[in-house]
Amino acid sequence: MGSELIQIIVANQPGLPGAPRSSSAAAGEAASFAAWGQVKERTATAEAWGAGRRPGPANAGQPPETVATAGTLKTFYIETFGCQMNVHDSEKVQGVLMARGMTRVENHHEADLVLYNTCSIREKAAQKVFSRLGVFRKGRTGSRKVIGVLGCVAQQEGERFFERAPQVSLVCGSASYSKLPQLLDQLETGKQRLTGLALDTEECFETEMTRRDNPFRAYLTIIEGCDQRCSFCVVPMTRGPERSRPSGRILAEARRLVDQGYTEIQLLGQIVNAWHDPSPARLSFAELLSRVAEIPGIRRVRFTTSHPRYFTSDIVQAIDANPNLCDQIHLPVQSGSTTVLARMLRGYTREEYLEKIHAIRQARRAISLSTDIIVGFCGETGKDFEQTLSLLKEVEYDQVFSFKYSKRPNTLVEGSRDALAEEEKGRRLAELQELQRQIQVRRNQALLGESFEVLVEGYQARLGQAVGRSTTNRVLNFPGTPEDVGRYLTVKVTSAGPNSLVGARAGSADLRF
Ligand code: 5AD
Repeated sequence: MGSELIQIIVANQPGLPGAPRSSSAAAGEAASFAAWGQVKERTATAEAWGAGRRPGPANAGQPPETVATAGTLKTFYIETFGCQMNVHDSEKVQGVLMARGMTRVENHHEADLVLYNTCSIREKAAQKVFSRLGVFRKGRTGSRKVIGVLGCVAQQEGERFFERAPQVSLVCGSASYSKLPQLLDQLETGKQRLTGLALDTEECFETEMTRRDNPFRAYLTIIEGCDQRCSFCVVPMTRGPERSRPSGRILAEARRLVDQGYTEIQLLGQIVNAWHDPSPARLSFAELLSRVAEIPGIRRVRFTTSHPRYFTSDIVQAIDANPNLCDQIHLPVQSGSTTVLARMLRGYTREEYLEKIHAIRQARRAISLSTDIIVGFCGETGKDFEQTLSLLKEVEYDQVFSFKYSKRPNTLVEGSRDALAEEEKGRRLAELQELQRQIQVRRNQALLGESFEVLVEGYQARLGQAVGRSTTNRVLNFPGTPEDVGRYLTVKVTSAGPNSLVGARAGSADLRF
């Protein structure tokens, strides 16, 4: 790793008021909070948040730690795997559980109810579910432990879960989370084998009792589900049809978050820019961005994930007009070959995608760009792959999340026709990642001597290093103190590696809380 310092990432925050069991973005394949950064379970690291030193926003609006317990299920443990949507879903589920009087515990052994929120976007993630469930089986002697599976694998496997993992009593996909209170009531009466698997919903999972894990960044869902039919992707089958929340509700939630002390909001959606306003206000997505940004007290607004098909120039204009709309866009391209894009049913050509990039590059501020790439999609020829490499060279992304194609159940890709050997996929992935590493080293080194405003998200006592994030989503490590956590500071870049920057404090502290 050389001079690269380890990136501190979202982890549990024991010791902080309102600190629930959380998840963390993993280093490696997807080492950031960007759209779909793979999230892995992680043991609590108090250090990561400078625990106990600086609480996040006031606990106002958070469900209480404990209230009078309603039923037989008194404690719960929740573990989350997957994208930010999953992380935020788990925050909302925790709110529902706490609102009914349950207490969160940090250890699954101690929990009456164990919930596992799963991800099935790629085969590897889905495979892990059953082995992890095996671990949850062992409860306290004599305890009636109830195990529930949530999320995309729950939706995908449905009732088959009960055969493959007989210890499971509840299988519930995200489109049915609004039914969770009733399902929990039934579990408390001793019911076994309950499912929430309906996908034909028009509802969003609305709750005011969200238990937010990240003390600095509040996630806010604006659209659920997905109506695209990308031929590789399982999401429309696991998250149901698109449902946009009315602008009024979104703006009211954003204002509540500011009242609770949050200054950074991240709008979430599988395809966030497919949002359309179901209310008579009929705001466009770009207008919604501006309205959120105009709320007094908000310093940073991010949004993820955008689909190139719906990426319009008014979004760039909104970023230009509102300095607190972050200069960062995640725009998954998936492949640089128009032929492959057509087979993926992405709805744009290489040239059309590059036009959008060109529009983004015209913005007044230099906007940081990241993307997702699938390597080795069925029928991807050497020439197609070369096109992807040339696209990376042309765009020069600041970050790329790259994956080997894996066939997912019920997707439109037929059989294993034209499938590439795993070895070849691996070779292409390594080549692409090496190219991108060089691009990132070059781009990051060009930042030497520049100063960035960072929000300090963590402190590593062992290294005496504070870790901040710029508006462009760059990680900056710099000598600091635990008291820096939660502050906005100016940091000057003194050295640069491929994935993060090292710096020194350059500006005065601007207290946030
Ligand atoms: N195989 C590999 N990668 C996939 N992704 C989605 N489906 C698959 C699949 N079947 C990747 C895409 C997407 C990201 C979240 O995961 O790049 O943007």
